[in-house]
Amino acid sequence: MADKDKIYIFDTTLRDGEQSPGASMNLQEKFRLARQLVKLRVDVIEAGFPVASKGDFDCVRNIADNLHGEIQVAGLARCNKKDIDVAWEALKNGDNPRIHTFLATSDIHLKHKLRMDRNQVLGLAVESVRYAASLTPNVEFSAEDASRSDLDFVCKVFTAVIAAGATTLNFPDTTGYALPDEFGRQIAYLMANIPNIDQAVLSVHCHNDLGLAVANSLAAVNAGARQVECTVNGLGERAGNTAMEELVMAIRTRGDLSPVRTDIDTCHIYPTSRQVSNITGMPVQPNKAIVGANAFAHESGIHQDGVLKERTTYEIMNPEDIGLHKGNIVLGKHSGRHALKDRLVSMGYKLNDDELNRVFDRFKALADVKKEMFDEDLEAIMLDEVFRITEAYELVTLGVMSGSRVMPTAGIRLKVNGEEVEASSLGIGPIDAVFRAIAQLTGTRSKLLFFSVNSITGGTDAQGEVMVRVEDNGRVVVGQGADPDIITAAAKSYLNALNRLAYLKNAENNSS
Ligand code: KIV
Ligand code: ZN
Repeated sequence: MADKDKIYIFDTTLRDGEQSPGASMNLQEKFRLARQLVKLRVDVIEAGFPVASKGDFDCVRNIADNLHGEIQVAGLARCNKKDIDVAWEALKNGDNPRIHTFLATSDIHLKHKLRMDRNQVLGLAVESVRYAASLTPNVEFSAEDASRSDLDFVCKVFTAVIAAGATTLNFPDTTGYALPDEFGRQIAYLMANIPNIDQAVLSVHCHNDLGLAVANSLAAVNAGARQVECTVNGLGERAGNTAMEELVMAIRTRGDLSPVRTDIDTCHIYPTSRQVSNITGMPVQPNKAIVGANAFAHESGIHQDGVLKERTTYEIMNPEDIGLHKGNIVLGKHSGRHALKDRLVSMGYKLNDDELNRVFDRFKALADVKKEMFDEDLEAIMLDEVFRITEAYELVTLGVMSGSRVMPTAGIRLKVNGEEVEASSLGIGPIDAVFRAIAQLTGTRSKLLFFSVNSITGGTDAQGEVMVRVEDNGRVVVGQGADPDIITAAAKSYLNALNRLAYLKNAENNSS
C-alpha cells in the first residue's frame, strides 16, 4: 500500500493526556507507558512539555535517551527561544527527536491571550520554526485554536512555516468546537490552498468537548490529513482527546470505505488501555467503545444466541484483535514458577530473579484463595510488587470489625519510613475507619475526592480494584490497590495515593 495511505499515529497520552485532572504520572510510569506505546507501534510519542517543570524535562529526556529505533519522540514548546532550547536539550540525544512548537492563530486568542496582531503572530511562528529547524529537521508547528481561526490566515501561516522548515502542520480543534462535516471541509480547504502542502504532513488534534473528537479526526483523514494526534482511552484536557483505540479500530474495521491504514499492532490495545487506567487511576467507563468492560459483552438472549451461532451476527470486531482474551484462565494454584515466568514474558514483562520470587509468592497466596487466575490478576500483582515507587508508607496488617449492629472499627499496622507503627479508629463505615487510622499514622491532611471499586474479573472470589483520587494543598494524585478483600484494596489504594504525594513533595523539594 502506498505511503500516502498511511495515517501517522501521534500519541500524546504523556502530554495532553497527563493534563487530565489528577492523571499525573511519575518518571518510571511514563517510561513504562512509553515502552508499551512502542509495542503498540505508534509513530510519534509526545513525551511532555519540557519547560513546564523539571519533572517534565526529566521524563522527556529519559524517554528520548532510552527509547531506540524508529519511534519519534516529541517535546512541546511555545514559540519562544527558551522553550525551544529547553525542549531541544531534553530531546537532543534521542534517535529521532521532534520539536513540536505551537502558537494560537484565532482572533479570540490573539486579542485576549497573546495581545498580538496577525502580522506579529506570523512573524513569531516563522522565526520560531526557523530556529527549531536549525536544531533538527523534524519540526511540527501547531496553530492553536485553528478550527476557530480565519482559514486564509491559517493557510498563510502554514505556507510560511513550511518554507521556514516545518515538516508537520497540526490543525487543532483546541476547544472541541468543530462538527465533522465542517472540520472535514476545513481540512480540504487547507489541502487546496497551501501551495507547498506536499512538502509536509497535515495533522489534526481534536478535543472531545462535544463528544466528536474521533468523528472529527476521521472526517479530517477523509479530507487528506495524514497524522492524527490522540491518547489512549481518550484521556486529555477537559473532556479529553481523540481516543486512539476508537480511531484505529474504526479505520481498520471500515477499511472497505477507505484505503487508509495505521501501523498500530492492535493486539496491544487492550493491555495498553489497562496500563493507562492503572497508572493514572482513571477507570474506563464500562460502555466505552473498544476497551470498556461491556464493549464485547452480550446481555440480551437474542444477541447471545446469535453470537453463539455465528460471532459476526452481533460482533463487528474480534475481541482478540485488540488483545482481549477475557475468560481465558491462564494459571492455577498448581502452576509453577516456570509457567508463571512464561506467562509474564508473553504479557511483556521480563523480571529479575528477586522480582520473580516476590511475584511468585504473591501469586501462590492469591491462587490459594482464588480458583482461577487471569492476566488481570497477574497485572495487579505486578503493579503491587514491581512497579510501586519507593514507598514511604507500607501496609503491614489490617483488621476491621463491621456489620449491621456494630460501630465499624479498624486496627492497622503500617511501616512509616521503615518503622512499624499502629493505630485504631472508629468510622461511619469500615473504609472510613481504615482511612481515619491511616490518616492518624501518616499525619495526612489530604482530602478524598473520588473513590471507586470494581472487580478485576468475574466471580465472587475476584480481586477488588479500588481507585482513589486525593487532594493535598492543590496537588491531586490518584491511588490504586487490588486485593481479594476490598477493604484491604481500599487501604492499599489510599496508601498508594499518599506515597505519590510524598514522592511529589520530595521531587519538588529536590528541584527547588
Ligand atoms: O489542544 C491544543 O491545541 C494543543 C496544542 C498544544 C497542540 O494541545
Ligand atoms: Zn490539546
